[in-house]
Amino acid sequence: MMILGIETSCDETAAAVVTDAADPALRIRANPVLSQLAEHRPYGGVVPEIAARAHLDHLDRLIREAMAEAGIGFPDLDGIAFSGGPGLIGGLLVGATMGKALALVHGLPIIAVNHLEAHALTVRLGHDTPFPYLLLLVSGGHCQLLCVEGVGRYRRYGTTIDDAAGECFDKCAKLLGLGYPGGPALERAAEGGDPSRFDLPRPMKGRPSCDFSFSGLKTAVRRAALALGEAPASQDIADLAAATEAAIGDSLIDRTARAIDRFRAEHPEGRHLVVAGGVAANRRLRQRLSTLAMERGLEFVAPALALCTDNAAMVAWAGIERLRLGFTDSIDFAPRPRWPLDPTAPRAIGAGVKA
Ligand code: KG4
Ligand code: ZN
Repeated sequence: MMILGIETSCDETAAAVVTDAADPALRIRANPVLSQLAEHRPYGGVVPEIAARAHLDHLDRLIREAMAEAGIGFPDLDGIAFSGGPGLIGGLLVGATMGKALALVHGLPIIAVNHLEAHALTVRLGHDTPFPYLLLLVSGGHCQLLCVEGVGRYRRYGTTIDDAAGECFDKCAKLLGLGYPGGPALERAAEGGDPSRFDLPRPMKGRPSCDFSFSGLKTAVRRAALALGEAPASQDIADLAAATEAAIGDSLIDRTARAIDRFRAEHPEGRHLVVAGGVAANRRLRQRLSTLAMERGLEFVAPALALCTDNAAMVAWAGIERLRLGFTDSIDFAPRPRWPLDPTAPRAIGAGVKA
């Protein structure tokens, strides 16, 4: 089975050709990703209108590139998968329209993939990870703990009541003058820092639910950054960056530990803790999750670093997982800016509008 994947839900324009070859190392035939970082950097965040126009400008070239690199033509494909949501509507429309047009011309089925499901299943592209597994999904827009019971079968244990973990990394990095995107910049800045110098809060720590909160931490970081004055020394920045990373990490570890208890009680047969989404590229977080899993008798698995941040190989792979089960979508599929993986999940206490 061979699928073309298209990703346009946020600020990465990406196309990929992926197969279900028995050897995971041979599955990704092409996976070009075009980051729009330079276009959004002057604004310190993603501007939806700029993102949509950039997807429109570059998507056809990226698809041609992916097909050429894979050395295949459209008749070799079994289907076309695109991110159908959640995400920015302008970009979603560009990807969905392109996917549908190609599918109509070449007589192929379409698979409208939930972008969160793509993150959730990415680990199975590279590692044989059976269901059920516990997933910490941490990206710029989402922060959730999910029990992944199967393709299309998710139970949400917890979500954030305000900001996502990646959003917290980005906003705190901005407060520290570290630029955009903040996650990787803050991780680098934290390297020579002393995390114990600043006493930052660990929101939600010890609470019985599996929910997250990061806005109080962000406020504390703002206060600490202001107290450093106009021109802080680079060691001050490193110390505050290290303290911020440690506080976000403590919060994620505490909530995940809580979710492991529930997962083990509900699924004694489950063996894996998985992390996914852009923040899963953080090396210290991966290390800490690996230790936590070991302490609790689970095996920790994470996608390769390059597959944690947005890409189209994960969309194509989710397309393969769905097509194998006979799940395809109708040509009148409408992109969904909001599309929760577990629509039955109760809202987090104190939650705003986030799905
Ligand atoms: O999954 P992703 O590429 O896009 C969304 O679907 O949101 O995640 C992007 C997020 C950004 O907030 C970025 O700062 C964060 O992931 N991120 C990181 C790291 N690399 C990316 N956060 C912490 N450490 C990193 N190394
Ligand atoms: Zn994402």
